[in-house]
Amino acid sequence: MLHATMLPPMRKRQRRTEGTEGPRYGVEVKFPDVRLYLVEKKMGATRRGFLAQLARAKGFLVEDVLSERVTHVVSEQNQAQELWQWLRRQALNNLPTLHVLDIGWFTDSMREGRPVTLEARHHIQDILPEASTHLPVVVLSRYACQRRTSTENHNEIFTDAFEVMAESYEFSQCDGQCLAFRRAASVLKSVPWPVERLGAATRLPCLGEHTRAVMEEILQCGRSFEVEKILCNDRYQRLKLFTSVFGVGPKTAEKWHRGGLRTLNDALEDPGVELNSMQKAGFRHHGDISRAVSRAEALALGEILHQAALGISAHAVLVLTGGFRRGKEFGHDVDFLLSTPEQGKEETLLLSLVDSLRRQGILLYCDHHPSTFDINNLPGVSFEAMDHFAKSFLILRLEDRQVEGGVQRPEGQHDGRSWRAVRVDVVAPPMERYAFTLLGWTGSRQFERDLRRFARKEKRMLLDNHGLWDKTKKEFLPAEREEDIFAHLGLEYLEPQLRNA
Ligand code: CTP
Ligand code: MN
Ligand code: MN
Repeated sequence: MLHATMLPPMRKRQRRTEGTEGPRYGVEVKFPDVRLYLVEKKMGATRRGFLAQLARAKGFLVEDVLSERVTHVVSEQNQAQELWQWLRRQALNNLPTLHVLDIGWFTDSMREGRPVTLEARHHIQDILPEASTHLPVVVLSRYACQRRTSTENHNEIFTDAFEVMAESYEFSQCDGQCLAFRRAASVLKSVPWPVERLGAATRLPCLGEHTRAVMEEILQCGRSFEVEKILCNDRYQRLKLFTSVFGVGPKTAEKWHRGGLRTLNDALEDPGVELNSMQKAGFRHHGDISRAVSRAEALALGEILHQAALGISAHAVLVLTGGFRRGKEFGHDVDFLLSTPEQGKEETLLLSLVDSLRRQGILLYCDHHPSTFDINNLPGVSFEAMDHFAKSFLILRLEDRQVEGGVQRPEGQHDGRSWRAVRVDVVAPPMERYAFTLLGWTGSRQFERDLRRFARKEKRMLLDNHGLWDKTKKEFLPAEREEDIFAHLGLEYLEPQLRNA
């Protein structure tokens, strides 16, 4: 029955032209930017005809013949390698921009009656990155929350340079350019092999003229002269040095630079410089806390905090977040989330924890921020703002004997101390906000930024560390686990290890 109504026009059309096979029977083209091609192999001619018919009835353009006009190739049950070999043989110029998709994307789109947002799981990846004359094909989203970014960075040569550029723009308060370089670095971190030709970058999102120019220099000369110039720049060097002190931001650093200060000692000795208590602690422990914290040290601190928390309440929950949760081996601090199922007790718990650390004699510094959380003020309008939960920024003393292999020391030096200072952040949300805070504090910063941007621009939702607000439904969406938040956003769940954007 189905076949009888469908096959004749198919055959007629195939004979007639190679042209567009758009919707017929009076159905309008709803998605002119999407041109589908269904791979017949494995799918079979009958099913292919049926699916094409279905898509056309829903307003999709379906091409019978594979040409450069096709934007989305859909395949069912074909081996990726075989499929890509076949695609390369077609010598299409648009191969690098072609979306090669699994049938799952097609069926989802049919169900929704529109082309659904492309996700990593939809793509059939080209397995041979160095394959033939064509460039490695990875389809990368503009949003970091739709890219898989492990800790393995194959493009450090570019991302390090971009980081210097971003920092230099940050020092000059050029937020737009700073963000452009941070975005570009984040995209390159998710490319699973070294980019070796600029051509390979043409289809990567978020790479503008300036970022490409820096890449081109590096590809041609092995280094970027623009970046080297910045690295030699006096002002850059001083701002970099001053901001390496805990508590000194770009504004203070700029002021010191303008005042003619050159070294950290200048800042300590200048009678005109009034240090606040955070900066004093920053100077006192500068050597230690500007040195990376290892995973072994982070785990040792986790153990210490966990014991202290359990000593206060048997219900205390302590979770490692930040870079270490993402699988990093080193970090600039250690981040923890502390909570308790006892409603309204989380802030007291945090204060008691800090107190316990003080009594143990390992609290070197504490900057506590009481909770200003008020459910009625949600969601916040600002996306970058700190959350309103109680939190403490600490410096703790970590003993050699508490860490497997001892604490990190500057290479070849032993100053006779048996301990080091480490920066530790602890945030204490109420348990019902746990998932949002965990997601927010796991980072990376770029990942969080793009999650929020994605929610706002693509889903009309507002996300922050407190909650998720649906502007259409005018309601908060509940979440017990991070997975719930990804699901609300229609995003594929990404493990923390893949959020190193
Ligand atoms: N964060 C936050 N509010 C703060 C401080 C941090 O939401 N007041 C979030 C940041 O957005 C980030 C995460 O906590 O996503 C961890 O921050 P940070 O420790 O600065 O960065 P890491 O990714 O852990 O990197 P590193 O290993 O260098 O510490
Ligand atoms: Mn951290
Ligand atoms: Mn931190």
